[in-house]
Amino acid sequence: MFLRDLWYFGALSSELKTGKHLHRELLGQPVLFGRDHQGKAFAMLDICPHRAMLLSGGEMQQHGDETHVECPYHGWRFRTDGSCAAIPSLTTDQAEAMDLSKIKTRAFPVHEDQGLIWIFYGEDETAEPCIDPPHLDMPDNAKPRMIVKDVFNCHIDHAVIGLMDPAHIPYIHRQWWYRTKASVKEKEKDFGPIERGFSMLPHVPSSNSFVYKFFGKDRTTEIQFQLPGLRTEYFKADGKHMTIFAAVTPTNENQTSVTIVTFWNHPLMTLVPSFIRRWMGETFLGQDRDAVNAQQVGLAYDPKLMLIHDSDIQAKWYFKLKDAWTKHRQTGATFKNPVKPAKLRWRS
Ligand code: FES
Ligand SMILES: [Fe+2]
Repeated sequence: MFLRDLWYFGALSSELKTGKHLHRELLGQPVLFGRDHQGKAFAMLDICPHRAMLLSGGEMQQHGDETHVECPYHGWRFRTDGSCAAIPSLTTDQAEAMDLSKIKTRAFPVHEDQGLIWIFYGEDETAEPCIDPPHLDMPDNAKPRMIVKDVFNCHIDHAVIGLMDPAHIPYIHRQWWYRTKASVKEKEKDFGPIERGFSMLPHVPSSNSFVYKFFGKDRTTEIQFQLPGLRTEYFKADGKHMTIFAAVTPTNENQTSVTIVTFWNHPLMTLVPSFIRRWMGETFLGQDRDAVNAQQVGLAYDPKLMLIHDSDIQAKWYFKLKDAWTKHRQTGATFKNPVKPAKLRWRS
């Protein structure tokens, strides 16, 4: 259903306050993200092993050095590693006779870096991360400057290929300040494999990306895609950067959350009022959302779909990468990236 043994984007650092938690649905399961009283982020399955109450309905408490999440139904308490710390209804002798360490809700490995909280979704409860967590290639002190979020009513596959496909741009993102139908040109871009993904290799960005023109002389852009649904656009000019990171995370079979986090140290960006930047970001993502949501009407009839050369090759690579990863995890065979260096051409 969904790829396992990968790091998924779970939440923004700024969303998790010390001593607080929040509820998310990820890969069809309820997950509680929390930050303990020492400031460390953690994640656990948001289901009480007693009688399935959502743990996130309860509060977080400090007991000595430990942070506990208290179930709101009968007060069972869980440590941040998911183990049960207390069952208040037990009498002293009952508590002595019962081994609480056997009671557990699933805990997930979590990694926090660059303002992003990652969760490792292993095949089973005990799976330890088999790969390093993602790390964006940008200056160490880069902080999220703008966040745009949306929810697409589709399976992750349609969200991913809907965001990467270049042929929709002049139709879905047609607006005077970005693209018009008249700005359609023939494009040719070099691609190559990267770890669990592929890259549109560094190149001088298209001159019809109006915003980019003002960035500086020595402009390059690179767009990377990595499983499970991570797209990063690195824009560099005269030693400055703008990095647009898009995380596509499945909520469940029919819903996908998309979070776009932009980092930059280019002074020009600060000159653009934040409401305009936000409006542009939300407009773009909203157009993609509306397109995939509208596509659901046709998809409901389960038609056969086509992927054509060259504008859908990236979508084909995505499906091949998924297959290769699944095979690697199921058989233990070495993961071989199916993407080969290629020059892709299309009109957009
Ligand atoms: S359901 Fe959680 S303590 Fe009973
Ligand atoms: Fe788009």
